Amino acid sequence: MSVAEFDEIAPKYDESRGGTERAAGFARMLAPLLDPARPVLDIGVGTGIVAAELTSLGHTVHGLDLSPGMLARAKDRLGARVAVADACRLPVQSGSVDQAVSTWLLHAGPDNRAVLAEVGRVLRPGGRYLVIPAGGTRPTDDIGLLVGELENRLDPEGSRRDGPEWLAPIAAAHGLVYEGTASERPTSFQVSPRAMAASLSRGLFTGAWAVGGEATRLVDETRSRLLALPNPDVPRVRRGADVVLLFTRGT
Ligand SMILES: C[S@@+](CC[C@H](N)C(=O)[O-])C[C@H]1O[C@@H](n2cnc3c(N)ncnc32)[C@H](O)[C@@H]1O
Repeated sequence: MSVAEFDEIAPKYDESRGGTERAAGFARMLAPLLDPARPVLDIGVGTGIVAAELTSLGHTVHGLDLSPGMLARAKDRLGARVAVADACRLPVQSGSVDQAVSTWLLHAGPDNRAVLAEVGRVLRPGGRYLVIPAGGTRPTDDIGLLVGELENRLDPEGSRRDGPEWLAPIAAAHGLVYEGTASERPTSFQVSPRAMAASLSRGLFTGAWAVGGEATRLVDETRSRLLALPNPDVPRVRRGADVVLLFTRGT
């Protein structure tokens, strides 16, 4: 999604993305992997909802985000410890960060190669980068197969893919070692083909890409294919997992 789109959805972002329950769940997964004696840099902090939960668990969190609208809410939560900044050009000294996190950032707009290059630059040797991906595991039901195919066609380079199979080799090129999944929490939700088709119209799942021209045609085509699936009003139960991917900066 563009910065303007994040600015626009900022007032409704928290409630539309699982609210405090999601944020507290993410914070509980991240906290044991972080040193409370050292500051945490939250890259793509958004409204600060996850950072605030981490703060309540005893961590000092500094947040950066490109959307002033999202950051305005983060400022209410974190005070002066937030700043507008591009994850692809961090205003941070090389080798100066002990620990950084990004939750639901790498699918959301920035080029994953540019972000990992910057994280590799700013982390001190031995420092940690924790990522909670949005699209880490892809459901393999009939909806998931169609949406996955669409994502591949919209983003053949995988610049907005955030699963470990995409991130690990990129990270390695920037001095970061992928250590594996450090925490995992099963999730389950239901969606019908019709609801997914409607989400696509609103750009929910394709929002990371500028949808126009050929991309619009591909989205329209996928929407038609979703509506042509058997029983398009019957929700499919989709099981997945929230995971924390752990990267360390090589020494
Ligand atoms: C899906 S939201 C996640 C926000 C927050 N981490 C959370 O879990 O609630 C993605 C965030 O990434 C930010 N973002 C997108 N591209 C960015 C970039 N290049 N640099 C910094 N932040 C960016 C957006 O403004 C948005 O706040």
